Amino acid sequence: MKIPSVKGTRDFYPSVMAVRNFIVDGWKAASNRSGFEEYDGPVFEHLTMYQVKSGQEIVEQLFHFTDRGGRELAIRPEITPTLARMVNQQINALARPIKWFSVPRLCRAERPQKGRLREFFQWNVDIIDVDDPRADAEVIFTALDYLQSTGLTAADIQARISSRRLLAALLQSIGIDGSKLEPLYALLDKKSKLPCEAFDEMLAKAVSDKDQAARIRSLMEVQSPDDIPQVIRMEEPAKAALEELKKLFLLLDLMGIGDFCRFDMGIVRGLAYYTGMVFEVHAVSGDLRAICGGGRFDNLLRDFGGPAIAATGMGMGDCVLEILLREKGLLSDTLPTRKLDYYICCLEEGLMSGAIALTATLRRLGFSADCVYKTAGLGKQLKLASAAHTAQSIIFGQEMTKENRLILKDMQSGDQRSILYNQFLSDLTS
Ligand code: HAM
Repeated sequence: MKIPSVKGTRDFYPSVMAVRNFIVDGWKAASNRSGFEEYDGPVFEHLTMYQVKSGQEIVEQLFHFTDRGGRELAIRPEITPTLARMVNQQINALARPIKWFSVPRLCRAERPQKGRLREFFQWNVDIIDVDDPRADAEVIFTALDYLQSTGLTAADIQARISSRRLLAALLQSIGIDGSKLEPLYALLDKKSKLPCEAFDEMLAKAVSDKDQAARIRSLMEVQSPDDIPQVIRMEEPAKAALEELKKLFLLLDLMGIGDFCRFDMGIVRGLAYYTGMVFEVHAVSGDLRAICGGGRFDNLLRDFGGPAIAATGMGMGDCVLEILLREKGLLSDTLPTRKLDYYICCLEEGLMSGAIALTATLRRLGFSADCVYKTAGLGKQLKLASAAHTAQSIIFGQEMTKENRLILKDMQSGDQRSILYNQFLSDLTS
């Protein structure tokens, strides 16, 4: 019986794994550059964890199950609720502010499509207990720092930034009730993906007052924060939210990434827990979905029974990123699946035990080494050495039998030299 792989999952053969590692290594290096510590949590959590505050979209995409004890559990579709739970659990023991990163494997029962799978990896960086746009700027900086390190430029990618705090204040100032904000966010977030008529129809259903609906539509067309007062009269708390957003843009300029960033009122984000700055990074051209997204979630820890502590962060998936890097020629087709310091070739069966012993010695000394399993022609063995991205091949042949000498071949230059076995060993350990 042949059993196929599950729809929306990937098999990580070594060449595919090399791509994943390339991406994850870059994420980790960028996290380290910005001073984040790594953490992780369990792959499944109580189902309620995602029903509390993640929003309807995530709830519909949950893989959930009942365990033998009758507990309702779900495979994590994101790690932010786990982060909130973990921080709350040790709130008094953890040194704050907290700067943590993680690269969890996540599952969402989405319809698989370009850049969207049912199982994927997502780099998360979050800063907790910094109630200042500095932290928001640092999150955006870290995401862009990584993307720049891959070779992407401001011509390729753009961070589109807005503020839910500002949006909430503006919506409330035109008379939208606080209880209606959450469903409205979900609708506004979809605006760019919907045909105009469909959006207008849905907006009319969500907001029955025609004047209010028209003002929301005009607000969503605004190109710059400076134009907002022309659409809606600015009063507190909208004024303060606008000032905060402007401060964020100044910080992004200061950090040298202003060219990558622009204001976009249409960025609302699908998750329910965002309270302040929200952003997504998109490819400038093409129809790819967001490369990453995040924002401030100042109430999540409190909503999970902890103290009211400010938090901001982002998540970047591996799928859209990989497509974009390939499109831009920034991902090599031949990433090494392994790299060896030494590959031991053996031309005579009688020398094999010596070759095996040397391989083990090299490994014990901390070198990466592999040895041919069967004697064969040298050409064939050197091909195996090349395929393993070997720096130097060691050849056990006639010289070994006669004079206890092996041949060392530099696989890059092709140069080779003969060396006494004992000399080779003492050079390694000196
Ligand atoms: P999100 O917008 O749901 O945010 O996901 C962030 C990123 O994860 C997306 O931009 C995309 O790159 C990737 N992603 C999401 N779903 C899929 C999928 N089905 N297949 C492939 N990639 C996907 C969050 O998850 C927030 N928890 C991020 C966050 C952290 N906010 C604050 N801290």
